[in-house]
Amino acid sequence: MPSISASAPGKIILFGEHAVVYGHPAIAVPVEGVRAKAVVMARPTAPQGSVLIDAPDISLNALLADLPQDHAFSRLFTALQSYLEIDHFPAFHLRVTSSIPIASGMGSGAAIAVAALRAVGTFLGRPLTNEEVSLLAYESEKAYHGTPSGIDNTVIGYTKPVWFVRGQPVQFLPISTPFTLVIASSGIHSSTADVVSAVRRNHEADPAFSDSIFQHIAQISADAAAALQTGNMATLGPLMTENHQLLQQLDVSLPELDTLVEIALQAGALGAKLSGAGRGGNIIALVRPENAQTVADALLRHDAVETILTTIAATEG
Ligand code: PMV
Repeated sequence: MPSISASAPGKIILFGEHAVVYGHPAIAVPVEGVRAKAVVMARPTAPQGSVLIDAPDISLNALLADLPQDHAFSRLFTALQSYLEIDHFPAFHLRVTSSIPIASGMGSGAAIAVAALRAVGTFLGRPLTNEEVSLLAYESEKAYHGTPSGIDNTVIGYTKPVWFVRGQPVQFLPISTPFTLVIASSGIHSSTADVVSAVRRNHEADPAFSDSIFQHIAQISADAAAALQTGNMATLGPLMTENHQLLQQLDVSLPELDTLVEIALQAGALGAKLSGAGRGGNIIALVRPENAQTVADALLRHDAVETILTTIAATEG
């Protein structure tokens, strides 16, 4: 029997991380150059329901039934099974691989979930729509932190730039002018759950302070969305750097991330910020295409462990 494959891109949050957990808007775009891939094959001799998951990047090779209930794959397949109203899965082998850096704010968990859902859905004769994969992938996102905003599964499930507000219908963001980003990894792994909890504790301790920062970030996201739609790219860089300063005030940056932002700006980036949960992971820098390699090289000379150059295409939204 032939195998069935599907893939999904990584993502990056351009503006609005953390504020988005509190109902404010955020902007995220797919990053097509890095991808998660899922391959499904029938296991004709295995008993019904025997689902073998093989994910070498995270050293996982196990039967679904043996995984803890709160494991991302358990959550994913429980959600899929109840959504499709099936008693048992037929026996199959799911192999997932990914070139998306793990735990660095590029949506590797959501991309793996989306790729797996697409491949398994097709294998089961029930190809899933973008809306369905986004909805179901959200269930597995809960394994990483209890209150995910849903931005990762949305931008990756639909593979389009999004203007995302938690709990509201998805809105795509038209982008009139392509732009180039350098994504640089600090090499520091951070737990989104821990950083989101830390922000929550600070918010509980001083709601007025946190809320004023979230409001300010929301204004930046709105200004950035307008700039992206009109192609007023000159304002986009400064908005990024301003967003980074607000994330510093939320205490989710690190000296290492601040240094990478500074290096990118000194090397000619138009703006830079941390992206994702923070306290590790990536920074992103908006660059002129002809300057992208110079900025990437400067970052690599100063402790970035990896850089990804990506161009975000114009879209009609
Ligand atoms: O590090 P990432 O890409 O998983 O981003 C987390 C983004 C937060 O806004 C901090 C959390 C969320 O659920 O949106």
